[in-house]
Amino acid sequence: MMNLFTIPNLVGAHLGGWRHRDAYSHPVMNLRQTIEFAQLAERGKLDGLFLADGNGIRDMNRRALFAANFPSARPGVFDPVVLMTALAGHTSRIGLVSTATTTFDEPWFVARRFASLDHVSNGRAGWNAVTAANAGDALNFNRSEPVNREERYARAEEFIEVVQGLWDSWAEDAFVQDKASGRFLDPDRVRALNHAGRFFKVAGPLNVPRTPQGRPVVFTAGQSEAGKELAARYADAMFGAGDSKETCQAEYADIKGRVAKHGRDPDMLRFIPGVNVFAGRSAGEADDLYGELNELISPALGIDYLSKIVTQDLSGLPLDGPMPDLPDTVAGSSTVRTFVVKVIRDEKLTVRQAYQRVVSDFGTPVVKGSAVEVADVLEDWYRAKACDGFVITFPMVPVGLRNLVDLVVPELQRRGLFRTEYAGTTLRDHLGLLRPANPQFETAPRSG
Ligand SMILES: Cc1cc2nc3c(=O)[nH]c(=O)nc-3n(C[C@H](O)[C@H](O)[C@H](O)COP(=O)(O)O)c2cc1C
Repeated sequence: MMNLFTIPNLVGAHLGGWRHRDAYSHPVMNLRQTIEFAQLAERGKLDGLFLADGNGIRDMNRRALFAANFPSARPGVFDPVVLMTALAGHTSRIGLVSTATTTFDEPWFVARRFASLDHVSNGRAGWNAVTAANAGDALNFNRSEPVNREERYARAEEFIEVVQGLWDSWAEDAFVQDKASGRFLDPDRVRALNHAGRFFKVAGPLNVPRTPQGRPVVFTAGQSEAGKELAARYADAMFGAGDSKETCQAEYADIKGRVAKHGRDPDMLRFIPGVNVFAGRSAGEADDLYGELNELISPALGIDYLSKIVTQDLSGLPLDGPMPDLPDTVAGSSTVRTFVVKVIRDEKLTVRQAYQRVVSDFGTPVVKGSAVEVADVLEDWYRAKACDGFVITFPMVPVGLRNLVDLVVPELQRRGLFRTEYAGTTLRDHLGLLRPANPQFETAPRSG
């Protein structure tokens, strides 16, 4: 079964999306509309909502872009776990995946927050563990320099081990709560962690009982060598990025091979790349929307955004002239930059074509067309082992999500590729992941 996630980002994933006449009119900190979004996604039986996050506002030095709304600058966003906790009260099945950084947070706090979210949501919590490569984030955490990749990933590894160790603090039956005998808990059913490593010294145990999912689901989202090794060892699912089916097929084979090398079942890591879906009642309707949104971006703004993505100043270049030759990699190259540079080169895009391409998808492949055409692409990727599912963004909301739920999901269901009802109640159930045994107290994993 295909796994589908979406991002409750009310400004949409197109630079002009928030300006469209049918877009939400006040998307910043709008809890009511975010709840509406979550409920609509749940009506579509989606596996989960995913909140990407950072701990620093980005791109303030690009005044035009910043003022016009660059969504991943994130100038006004809820703390993701606080928001997911609110959404948990207004939904009952959909998974709730939040990002937290291993570079600046503390394992104790992360273990506690996500275990609490798992209890609050009755087993729907997921943690997207990121190393926060964005240089600006470091400045908010007693540093004047970004943290290098070696340190980020060494810390991430130990961080996740500590978090998982803390989640195993309690046996499931530890909290007896028997009024008759006066026995509240069983002191033999708890273990201290007593971890002492390169980065952390954590005694434990955690002050949250074992959670409904055993452990919240762990996601990662980094496709560097170190990022993939981290995923292969610890993750239950991995958010990815890839410019084409072929790139994702290679990534899929690579990551599943690494999981097996670490002695794990490759099905126990779900690979979920991002796609940006423009679905309409007809292909023409999707094309019209694409055109309308691109018209909402001035050339100056488009070029400012493209310059940021390719890390090279492109201002002053003729709009309909060729793009300059761009180096394959630069210091701190991102997955998105690599993808965009490749597309520009392969398709020989002009400056205008290049910015129109990136403003519509932020470096994620665009799947555009009627419901049947969109379903064809999703089915093709899935059957070709390019992914286990998708994290779907929309150029604008709520229209994009509504079209997914009302048009594309029924088409996927008709083809037997997507659930018509939730079979279970937890995010692990939706993803087909086993409930982990607690090595401190149990030996055999229970399914379910
Ligand atoms: C789909 C996807 C989602 C991501 N979400 C986040 C995020 O929410 N916060 C973050 O700091 N980084 C996020 N990243 C970035 C990665 O965690 C990673 O830091 C980045 O791709 C650079 O790779 P590296 O750290 O392995 O060098 C995301 C990446 C992808 C592909």
